[in-house]
Amino acid sequence: MSDISSRKDDHIQLALQPRHQASSGSGFDRLEFEHNALPELALAEIDCSSKFLDRTIAAPFMIGAMTGGCDNGELINQHLAEAAEATQIPMALGSQRAALDQNLVQNVRRWAPNTMLIGNLGATQLQHHGLDLAKRAVESVSANALIIHLNPLQELVQPNGDRDWNQVLEAIQNCASDLPVPVIVKEVGSGIGPRTAQRLSGAGVQWIEIAGRGGTSWPSIELARNGSEREKAIAAPFINWGMDTAVLITHVLHACPAINLIASGGVRDGLDIAKCIRLGAQMTALAQPFLAPALESSQAVIGRVQILQEQLRWAMFLTGSQNINALQTAPLFPPLDQ
Ligand SMILES: Cc1cc2nc3c(=O)[nH]c(=O)nc-3n(C[C@H](O)[C@H](O)[C@H](O)COP(=O)(O)O)c2cc1C
Repeated sequence: MSDISSRKDDHIQLALQPRHQASSGSGFDRLEFEHNALPELALAEIDCSSKFLDRTIAAPFMIGAMTGGCDNGELINQHLAEAAEATQIPMALGSQRAALDQNLVQNVRRWAPNTMLIGNLGATQLQHHGLDLAKRAVESVSANALIIHLNPLQELVQPNGDRDWNQVLEAIQNCASDLPVPVIVKEVGSGIGPRTAQRLSGAGVQWIEIAGRGGTSWPSIELARNGSEREKAIAAPFINWGMDTAVLITHVLHACPAINLIASGGVRDGLDIAKCIRLGAQMTALAQPFLAPALESSQAVIGRVQILQEQLRWAMFLTGSQNINALQTAPLFPPLDQ
């Protein structure tokens, strides 16, 4: 097994443990919809379908990036991809770097011929001549878009992580202008702030996935893997570093009104999804909540998708929102302008 594959295995095992979820919460609990005691709608009439990139999808959420599909990741990806196909929600792949480095065949499109698949590479892998790698990532799975992930804190805490982040923005700019599919830039749990969003937007990026604090904690996971007492001591104050997802959505949209936003990081149920949409996100993504079902079966993942969808529909019913457009203006406390 390659070093990258064994690291991925560690990540999967550790991400399943509740102690590696951020203790602070993502900020959704501080927001409440105004309860509509008179919805004047039938639950069956509620339409939670949504638009993402150029497609209509079943609901405004997707399976967040986890595994690129080598070694143990292959089975997880099969379950996720079959479920994404059956439910018509998009699926983001985890980093394809290991598969591309080893020239492995990536099978995921075979299990999801029609659903939206999104490729994934780390930004520091693109620093030098990254455009070719990015094109291979897209072509190898016929991806509908490419995610480039930013994870400077994770790389600091990770043993032998990448510590040179020069020329990353330039590499992202090249991908945004030359790839045949849209580029989405995401974090992995510390969040993309308003100023970073503005720089990305200036580089031609039209989609940002926030991946704020509140869900899976990468400093916590990488600290558990790091055997160096010195590195653990240095990392200790940064265990809760980052910005809450709910807070970031509003701040990023305020600074960068034209950006298309995917909210993620600690989104845990359909009510959180509804709050993200109300705050202005066009789409949401959940990663860790799909991990345990993905280890089990495609059916278990489908079950999880259906529960999320039903929770979203309940939130829409209880705010009197017949469709996603109506949900975008449902009354929320505290009001957004305070
Ligand atoms: C097991 C696991 C592996 C992950 N691998 C990747 C990855 O390869 N690329 C990436 O962009 N994000 C990766 N992530 C980060 C997620 O996509 C997401 O941004 C982060 O976990 C926060 O979302 P959550 O709180 O819903 O888990 C991974 C997450 C998990 C749980």
